[in-house]
Amino acid sequence: MSQKLIVAIDGPAGSGKSTSAQLVAQRLGYVYIDSGAMYRAVTFLALKENLLDNEKALTTIANNADIQLDFINGETTVKIGKEDITDELRTIEVNQKVSDVSKIEGVRKALVKKQKEMGKQNRGIVMEGRDITTVVFPDADVKIFLTASIDERAKRRAVEYEKKGTTVSLDEIKKNIQSRDNLDSTRSVSPLTKAPDAIEIDTSKVSIEEQVNLILEQVKIAADRKGIKIKI
Ligand code: DC
Repeated sequence: MSQKLIVAIDGPAGSGKSTSAQLVAQRLGYVYIDSGAMYRAVTFLALKENLLDNEKALTTIANNADIQLDFINGETTVKIGKEDITDELRTIEVNQKVSDVSKIEGVRKALVKKQKEMGKQNRGIVMEGRDITTVVFPDADVKIFLTASIDERAKRRAVEYEKKGTTVSLDEIKKNIQSRDNLDSTRSVSPLTKAPDAIEIDTSKVSIEEQVNLILEQVKIAADRKGIKIKI
């Protein structure tokens, strides 16, 4: 039996997944995987090659791209081979196109396969995304579904943009989030949906620290159930 847990976290854009998943991983000394970064990396490559309308080419990119995620000192670095593309993944262009890319079956199959492989090694892992609790790790030890109001989610994204020195109106951010929510939850292949056995946490009025503690409570319950000792 594995002595480490798999913690799966899903939720819409801006629900607090990345921040809380990273902190949970740090507290547990686990590996953190931002699965959205993989869809963003494929989108970035497709934009660069002008291949966004070509499903076959997109599937080939998803299968062949050497996407590497490194989580060091609380920061994720994304590389394609040796090229660091971290700063290219959160641009407005990638934000606008990533949902279209991630609805393509071939792209999803390729990335889900890579994600499942990441979970096979006997190590603790915290992975977040849209289909982690339902498709990638339906048997995860801990399954969390985060939500938050649209206004709160838009405000959080605005702060992220501001930090990067980009000015985008709150209205534009809201529209982008709503359009992505719609595409992500209505696509035919593994749409964003709450797994029946996932614990739902509304983060609208909850501090990051509280979110993290609520998730860690679930981790403790799962560890006790499996008879695993964890240090938090
Ligand atoms: O978490 P994020 O906002 O960085 O994700 C970017 C997009 O990638 C999101 O709009 C939908 C897609 N995605 C997905 O379809 N499945 C995942 N497991 C993670 C992300």
